[in-house]
Parts: sequence; structure tokens; C-alpha cells
Amino acid sequence: MNNESQNSITDDLLMIIPVRNVVIFPGAVSHISIGREMSVVAAEQAVAEERRLGLLLQHDPAMDEPRAEDLHSVGTIVSVVRFVTAKNGTKHLIVQGEQRFRTAGFVQGAPCLAARFDVIADSGSGDAEVRARANLVKERTAEIINLLPEAPAEFNVALAAVENAGALADMVAGFLEVSPAEKQKLLETADVRERLDAVLGALDEQLKVLQISHEIGAKSKEKIDERQREYLLREQLKTIQHELGDDEAGSDLDEIDAAITAAGMPEAVAREARKELKRLRGIPDSSTEHSMLRTYLDWLTELTWQASEAEAVDIAKARAILDEDHYGLEKIKRRILEYLAVRKLNPQGRSPILCFVGPPGVGKTSLGRSIARALGLEFVRASLGGVHDEAEIRGHRRTYVGSMPGSIIQSIRQAGTNNPVFMLDEMDKLGSGFHGDPSSALLEVLDPEQNSTFADNYLGVPFDLSKVLFIGTANVIDNVPGPLRDRMEVIELPGYTQDEKLEIAERYLLERQLAANGLSNAQASIDRPALVELIDGYTREAGVRNLEREIGALFRHATMRIAEGSDRSVAIGKTDVSEILGPRKFDREAQMRTSVAGVATGLAWTPVGGDILFVEATAVPGQGQLILTGQLGDVMKESAQAAISLAKGRLDQLPMERDWLAQNDLHVHVPAGAIPKDGPSAGVAMFVSVMSLLSNRKVRSDIAMTGEISLRGLVLPVGGIKEKTLAALRAGIKTVLLPARNRKDLQDIPESARAELKFIWLETAEDALAAAFEPDETVKAA
Ligand SMILES: Nc1ncnc2c1ncn2[C@@H]1O[C@H](COP(=O)(O)OP(=O)(O)OP(=O)(O)O)[C@@H](O)[C@H]1O
Ligand SMILES: [Mg+2]
Repeated sequence: MNNESQNSITDDLLMIIPVRNVVIFPGAVSHISIGREMSVVAAEQAVAEERRLGLLLQHDPAMDEPRAEDLHSVGTIVSVVRFVTAKNGTKHLIVQGEQRFRTAGFVQGAPCLAARFDVIADSGSGDAEVRARANLVKERTAEIINLLPEAPAEFNVALAAVENAGALADMVAGFLEVSPAEKQKLLETADVRERLDAVLGALDEQLKVLQISHEIGAKSKEKIDERQREYLLREQLKTIQHELGDDEAGSDLDEIDAAITAAGMPEAVAREARKELKRLRGIPDSSTEHSMLRTYLDWLTELTWQASEAEAVDIAKARAILDEDHYGLEKIKRRILEYLAVRKLNPQGRSPILCFVGPPGVGKTSLGRSIARALGLEFVRASLGGVHDEAEIRGHRRTYVGSMPGSIIQSIRQAGTNNPVFMLDEMDKLGSGFHGDPSSALLEVLDPEQNSTFADNYLGVPFDLSKVLFIGTANVIDNVPGPLRDRMEVIELPGYTQDEKLEIAERYLLERQLAANGLSNAQASIDRPALVELIDGYTREAGVRNLEREIGALFRHATMRIAEGSDRSVAIGKTDVSEILGPRKFDREAQMRTSVAGVATGLAWTPVGGDILFVEATAVPGQGQLILTGQLGDVMKESAQAAISLAKGRLDQLPMERDWLAQNDLHVHVPAGAIPKDGPSAGVAMFVSVMSLLSNRKVRSDIAMTGEISLRGLVLPVGGIKEKTLAALRAGIKTVLLPARNRKDLQDIPESARAELKFIWLETAEDALAAAFEPDETVKAA
């Protein structure tokens, strides 16, 4: 080797990195870690100057500072793909092999190893013999890949795509499991045919090794099978011992067998169960499969397969029970009794599925419980709120680890009968996701044609749901998926008036909360004015759930006092309420708000049973702009604009200068709150609030209004009259202004509410003005 001196590394030189035990073939991308100072210098310079590097294998991998003579003279020219320093300081090169080279003299004095070089080209490729060998290489490699379970499947594809025989040999050589020295030999073989032969030789070798190890694997598997046979024999022995009566443990698998018989499953199901039991006997107790199978069989045997005791419909008794549990709700109870009567007369017939719809806390769930009690049936419920995966209804296949039946079968098992009253709660909160639509599974549940063979994925055998009495509940019927809605008969529970709540509290809630707090009638009481105060100032709801909670809070206080020994009995009156519960949570808001001109009380429909809202109008110096705030929806904005145009048209009835409008901006605001603010039904309230502002007259504090308004000043009908009316009552409103064309909805409003409220029916905007203002402040007609 002729060494010469060189200080800088010129372009005709190759910077060399000595490697200890990797050979990288042209075409391969590979990773090497570098640590030696001179290698790092070479790598850094290569990156900085975008130069290629030469890799040369050391003769002795243990040598730390190899010199020229310690390296093989044939190596690979590589380009640097990436040069990274890991967190722990080690440096790594990712390189792509490009060409073979042979050193032609190292230079002295350079900061790293550097050498002149000659590129070595492949020779002797292209003839038929080479092609035949190349094909052979491909075949052998494919065979090997088949024997390697973890080999990447893409490798076969990549292999098939290689056309150049030399490149093929290099590619396969890179993956061969041979020593670096042997790879080096392959690298040094420039003749393609020779290289292919060498690769083939190595492949054959590797194939043989693999085949042998496979055989060994198969042998050891045989051994395992043998062990299983032994286990089976032992099991048989156990059975024989059992038959002979000389085993004491009485294997619990036999108990499952007995349970299968006892469960009275349909023929096909029992057969399936026995098949799985047989399988179970063959699986060692310790394996997870054993416990999975065991759980499955428990599910099968614990479900009720045989007909449960039929419901005993006694209409008079049912009536008594419904009355016992619930105050009022006359129409609804009557409908339920009709329903039960039909079931009694025609037990085989299809009765419709009832769906109770109404705001929270109006008694939907508790009516369901009552029905079960009246019929002497079990009661179960499954909440559908937030369910967005079909598997939650129908279960996961048993192949999943930790799989379970869906909520339908789970509830049925919980019921312990196959004809419970089954409440499907929150049908309006059903989601839908990527994993199958849960509502389609529910359709099957509710369809009398299909539900006698309901298929739960986990059970894998059909289950008969046809005897189950399903009842749905929802807060808003519109949110229940259409096809489900069509299957059910909707029964609406709109909510209670103040008086009804008082009755419910006195007749039911007091007693229930006394019991819940371990108190007797003699120990604690809440008088009527205190209850009214609770209803009025501490709750604002259509139902009675919060009322019941507040009553509970009062009784807890009483329990404390008695437990402390400071009192023997506690009677709670109106003035005690604020002392115990703190100041009122709700005020007669309407009175406060409408104490200035420009504010009108509107009525809104909400899913929880209607509410009041306030429309505020004010004027600020400006240029005749209209400002709308309060996160109004588009329809509501437009209806505001219409109302204001209508008001402007009446300017000559008002005591203001002609150019007042041009010098002021009108600002209409609907304060925030949990009320969704869209739709046209606030038109009348907007018109009245603007007229109130412009005429500087206050709106009466005890009225509330709803209605769409047209540009011509006609009042158009709106929806949700019943809920809105009840909300008005709750808020202490005395008079409601409703569109005349909603008169037909009056019959839906409960008697008691009708008796308490005054209704004014509006044909035109003028009618609203006539009714809205304080008596002495009515706008003078022009
Ligand atoms: N008319 C009534 N008579 C007696 N108690 C009633 C009446 N209405 C409701 N309740 C009681 O009010 C409480 C709340 O009722 P329930 O849980 O049935 O409400 P829900 O309509 O199912 O509400 P949600 O939509 O939130 O599920 C229960 O304790 C129930 O017994
Ligand atoms: Mg409920």
C-alpha cells in the first residue's frame, strides 16, 4: 500500500469509516453507530460537504485504532441519509449503500482515514444462466420467508420487483444470516454469476437449518398434545371415580352440567351449551380460555329460558296501585289501564310499546315501576343515554377478551325472569357511531316479528324477548330516531303546576323523605307555606325531583338537630326555610326585570319543559343602526328585525321627533341563559319591548307572551303552548298573551293551570299593545 501525505481531503479521495462487524451492500439502507473520533470527524465532514463515505470492514473487530493494513481493501461507498446524536450522546449514521470500491492507497495526515479508490462494477451479468440462478434465488428466498413467522410480507413483493441480477444477489445477501467475514466475501465477488452461486449456497444452508428447527417445533407440539391427552384421561378417570362414587370434590363442571339441565333451555341452546361444556373439560383450569368459557356457560345457565309466571292483570288492582304511587296524571293512568286491559283480553296479541315523554322528574321512570308492581312483574331498566355502539346493546363476540353480553341480555339476567317490565331510558340521547348503529339493534328488540329470536353477539344463540314488556322514555320525542318513534305509542307528561306539586309533596314526597332520613311523623314536619316557599323560591322545574331533594335537605337538618339532642321534634315553617337552605335561589324575576320600560317577558320552549325569557330594548346615541345581541339564531334575528320595522312604522303614534331614529341606535338584547334562542316565537315580545322603550311605558310585570309576528302586524301561531303556559305559571305570571290561532291548544293545558291563568288571544300586534302595558299607560291609538 503506498501511503502519501495529504492535509486536506480532496474530491478524488474517499473518507473512510472502519466498521467492526457490518457489511452493507449496494442498494441497502442501514444503520451504523459510530464512536471513534476519526469516524465522527469523517461523518461530520461528509454531512457538511454532502460527500459520500467509504465503509471498510476491520479484519479484527476488537481493534480500536485500525490502520490501513488492518482493513479489508474492498468496501462500500455509501451516502449519508441521516446523522443523528441520540439523547445519551451516542452517534448514529443511517446510510444508503451505493457502489463497491477498492482502496488505491491511503493518504497521511488527514484528520480522518482517507483513501484513493476505484469503483468496482458488476461483471458477467445478463446471460440466461444468470437469469436462471436469479430465479432460483427468488424461489429459495420465498421458501425461507414462509418458514419465518416474523418475516415482513413486503419482502416478497420487493424481491419480485428486482430485475437486475447483481442487485438481487446483493439484496438477499444483506439479509442472510451469515458471519460478517462471509458477507465480506460476497461483497468482494464482483462476478454476478459467482455471487449468485454463493448466495444460493448460503440460502440452501439456511433453509436446511430452518426446516430442521421446524421439525423440532412440531415434535415439541406433539409433546404438548400428549400432555393434553393425559389431561383428558385424567378427566375421564375423575368421571369414572365419580360414577363409582369415590370422589369427594364432585367437580364443579358437573354442576354446570346439572345447571344446563335445570335451566330448561330450548333444545338447540342446550346442545350448544353441552358442546361448550365438553370443550371446557378438555382445557386446563389454569388457562384463560377455561375461565372465559366458564363465564360464558354461567351466562347461559343463569338466563331464564323457560316461560316465567305470566302477568296477572287485575285492572282494579292496577288502578289502585297506580293511584297509590302517583298523584294526578289522570289521562295517563287511564291510557295505561286501557293498555293493560287489551293485554289481558288478548295476551297473544301485539300490544304497542309505550313511550313516556316529558321533562325530567315528572315520574316517567316511577310510572314504569308502578306498572311492574301492578302486574306483579320484575322491573329493569337500561339507560341508552350516550350509547353509540351497537355492541353495547347486542354484546361483543366471544373472541374479544373481556367480552360481555349487551345491555339487553344483562338486564334480562338481572331481572331473573324473561318477562320483566323493561324500561329503555333516555331513548332521545341515543348516539350513533362508526361501530354499527345502536338504533338498528333496538329496532330488532322492539319488533315483535324479530324479538323472539334476539341475537346477542356474546350469547351466540337466540333469546326470546317476546314476553318482555318494553317501555321507552325520552325528554324530547323529536330526538328519538324516526324508525323507533314509529314503533311506539307516545304518552306525554308535560309537567306539573305549583298546586299539583304541592299535592305531590304532601302526599308522597314528605313521607318518602321522612323514611329516607329515618324520621317518624312525630319527629319532623314541614308545613304548607314552607312547601310553597320551596316550590316557588328554591326550585324551577317542570317535575318534582329538585323539590324532593330540597325536602330531603330540610329533613337532614332535622335529623341532625335531633341527633345532637338539641330538639326532640322539629317543625319547619316558611321562615325556617331560608335559615336552613340559604336565600331563595329563584325570585319573581319578571317583576324585577320589567320595572323599567323596554323589557318584555317572553315564553320559550325547552326540552326540560319551557321557561320564561326577557327581551330588553334600549336606545343609545348613534346613526339609526340596529344591534342584536344574546347569541340569537338566524330565524330569531330576522323576527327581531321584522318586529322592529313594525315598531318603526308606528312612530307617528309616539311622542318623538322625526329624526330621533336617525340619531339613535336601537339595541335589542335577549340575556343569556340555558335557553336555546332561535325560532320566530319571540316576535311579539320583541315588538312589545321596542314599543315599550319608544313610548317609555312599562310592560305589566305579571304578563308573558309568545307569538310570531308578520310585517303586516298579524300574530301567527307557534308551538309548545302547553309547556310555555306551565312555565309561565311557575314563574308567577298571571296572564299569558297567546296567538288567537293557538286557541285549539287550550285543551292540552291542565285544568288547574287553566283555572289559574288569564288568557288573552292575539289577532294583531295592536292586541298585544292593548294588553301589555300598565293600565294607565296604554299607548294611545292614533
Ligand atoms: N305524580 C307523581 N306522584 C308522586 N310522585 C311523583 C309524581 N311524579 C313524579 N314523582 C316522583 O318524582 C321523582 C322523580 O320521578 P322519575 O324519576 O320517575 O322522573 P323521570 O320522569 O323518570 O325523570 P328523568 O327524565 O330525569 O328520568 C320520583 O321519586 C317520583 O316518584
Ligand atoms: Mg327517569
